[in-house]
Amino acid sequence: MKSLSRNFLAITIAVLCGQPILAANDCSSVTALNRVNGVTINSAKWVAGNSLVLTDSSTGAKLPNEYPFCRIHGAIAYAGNNSLRFELWLPENKSYNGRYMATGNGGLAGTIDTSSMMQSLNRGYAVAAGDSGHNEASNGNGTTQPEQYIPFLHSKSQTKAWIHDSIAKLTPPTRNLTMRYYGSAPRFSYFSGCSTGGAQGFALAQFHPELFDGIYAGSPGNWYSHLILAFLWNARHSRDAAFLDQATLNFTTNAILSHCDGLDGVVDGLIENPLKCSFNITSFACHGSSQSSRKSGKCLTNPQIAAINAIYQGPRDSRTGQSIYPGYTLGSEKQWLLQETSLYLNYSTPILQNLVFRNLSFDTDKFDFGADVDAVDTCASPLIDAITTDLSAFRRRGGKMVVTQGWTDPYNGALWPIRHLEQLQKTEANGRVPDFLNLYMIPGGGHCGPASFFPSAPSTYHVDSALRAWVENDTFPEHIITSRPLDGSRRTRKLCPWPQSARLKGHGADSDDAASFVCA
Ligand SMILES: *[C@@H]1O[C@H](CO)[C@@H](O)[C@H](O)[C@H]1NC(C)=O
Ligand SMILES: *[C@@H]1O[C@H](CO)[C@@H](O)[C@H](O)[C@H]1NC(C)=O
Ligand SMILES: *[C@@H]1O[C@H](CO)[C@@H](O)[C@H](O)[C@H]1NC(C)=O
Ligand SMILES: *[C@@H]1O[C@H](CO)[C@@H](O)[C@H](O)[C@H]1NC(C)=O
Ligand SMILES: *[C@@H]1O[C@H](CO)[C@@H](O)[C@H](O)[C@H]1NC(C)=O
Ligand SMILES: *[C@@H]1O[C@H](CO)[C@@H](O)[C@H](O)[C@H]1NC(C)=O
Ligand SMILES: *[C@@H]1O[C@H](CO)[C@@H](O)[C@H](O)[C@H]1NC(C)=O
Ligand SMILES: *[C@@H]1O[C@H](CO)[C@@H](O)[C@H](O)[C@H]1NC(C)=O
Ligand SMILES: *[C@@H]1O[C@H](CO)[C@@H](O)[C@H](O)[C@H]1NC(C)=O
Repeated sequence: MKSLSRNFLAITIAVLCGQPILAANDCSSVTALNRVNGVTINSAKWVAGNSLVLTDSSTGAKLPNEYPFCRIHGAIAYAGNNSLRFELWLPENKSYNGRYMATGNGGLAGTIDTSSMMQSLNRGYAVAAGDSGHNEASNGNGTTQPEQYIPFLHSKSQTKAWIHDSIAKLTPPTRNLTMRYYGSAPRFSYFSGCSTGGAQGFALAQFHPELFDGIYAGSPGNWYSHLILAFLWNARHSRDAAFLDQATLNFTTNAILSHCDGLDGVVDGLIENPLKCSFNITSFACHGSSQSSRKSGKCLTNPQIAAINAIYQGPRDSRTGQSIYPGYTLGSEKQWLLQETSLYLNYSTPILQNLVFRNLSFDTDKFDFGADVDAVDTCASPLIDAITTDLSAFRRRGGKMVVTQGWTDPYNGALWPIRHLEQLQKTEANGRVPDFLNLYMIPGGGHCGPASFFPSAPSTYHVDSALRAWVENDTFPEHIITSRPLDGSRRTRKLCPWPQSARLKGHGADSDDAASFVCA
């Protein structure tokens, strides 16, 4: 009944407004729409409901298409012979929510993130995404080795497209196709991305502020050029005797957790705000500990303590002592193996060798956290960073932006989005920043989803409904509800606009119910 009346309403409005009603339940009209400059539609195929089953990249759950949709593959030519592949998914007209969504990329991109597209399709969006302007073969087919030639990083156009421009290139033509498919323009336009996609979100607000009404940027790597220096710093400080194995990392996080967990009045295996916990890991020093506790990682050697403190502190400029990128926070240690063993190989090495020094033999162990930082700032930053402190153009067009960041994100230092927010708040042109941009820190949150080591943390962040209400109804997002922890419980919680955090209303309140918390 409900969908019938919605359909009836839509048809009535369409007729009243004199718009063409396209037969939107098949794809046959799409190739005829192929008239946008520089855009090629390679295929348009109808996909029956529940017939395309993907996997949710953050939880591993099955992700089928709840609605039938028209799946369009296309390409956009840019900067000479370059090509940006895109997909546009148009839900059957009765399930279409009247809104356009572009979704972003992860890592070095080169592929289309269909699992993110599916999440938006299942909410009724017309959803578009691209490969960021280069294909997988151009970034090493998804794996990187030392001294590997990464073609896209040698093309200025492709490098610039990757984070700064690819979404802006695909949005106008795919939105135009959406309009002509349904017979009227989408009422609102959104972007959603995490990690590299979060950086793309900031790039949209900075370089293309007119395009989107609402932007969701998760775990934003928008200071990419310095994030990779943090990876390198962390790896360099945790080698040999300073290596932190999983048992040691577990011991450290567990000890910190038991010290800091209750500070917010709720003992739940989570640290609500690690900045409120002062803890000196020197108290875990092995002095006088038994050989067996040393062996089993139940205490920290001096080199290990130095490594952990270096990672908390983050990279420093050897000339000035100034911070190059913020460090990682108390309670995030459990997933630092990624920092120690792979992220620098996956990101720092290829970007330094291919983009910054254009020398595949460049030895990243010799990277000088002084003069070489200038080379990074000169050669990489203008092409890949989106760290302006002035987002007033986005504010003036009425744009709204939600940023989320997991406190235990093993990739992105959790303090970076806080530092960037503080910089935005110091810029007068931005006015009152919370009027258009809010940051929500996630206790137990990992990189773009739940951290498996914190199973009590709700894993689903209901950003979409909060952002929509803010954009469309001017309802301030005083909190964002989270649900579905990996432990299978029904716990719900609230994320609060930084610098607020969630506080239990009183003794006896049910700490598994978001309604028991206030943001303060
Ligand atoms: C939706 O598609 C059906 C079948 O093609 C068509 O009859 C109907 O008019 C369309 N409705 C709208 C609102 O476009
Ligand atoms: C959509 O594309 C058509 C064909 O290129 C063009 O005539 C029209 O102006 C475009 N509309 C918008 C809103 O961009
Ligand atoms: C584009 O053209 C340049 C210069 O002619 C060439 O080096 C490059 O390989 C071409 N790129 C692609 C993706 O074909
Ligand atoms: C990536 O795959 C393509 C096609 O299989 C191959 O030609 C190319 O050499 C591969 N590139 C790398 C860096 O492995
Ligand atoms: C990341 O680095 C690790 C260690 O070198 C490697 O096994 C893995 O394949 C890399 N992943 C990517 C996506 O490059
Ligand atoms: C570390 O802790 C996780 C649970 O948080 C556990 O699954 C894993 O086995 C532990 N690893 C070691 C080496 O203790
Ligand atoms: C931690 O304690 C050690 C030894 O007492 C001291 O040298 C160090 O400055 C302390 N660190 C912090 C961050 O307080
Ligand atoms: C490339 O890096 C290697 C190792 O750091 C160095 O010996 C060599 O001189 C560099 N080549 C150029 C052209 O700078
Ligand atoms: C906007 O408010 C109306 C009326 O309260 C409500 O029905 C609608 O769901 C709200 N829209 C959003 C996106 O929250």
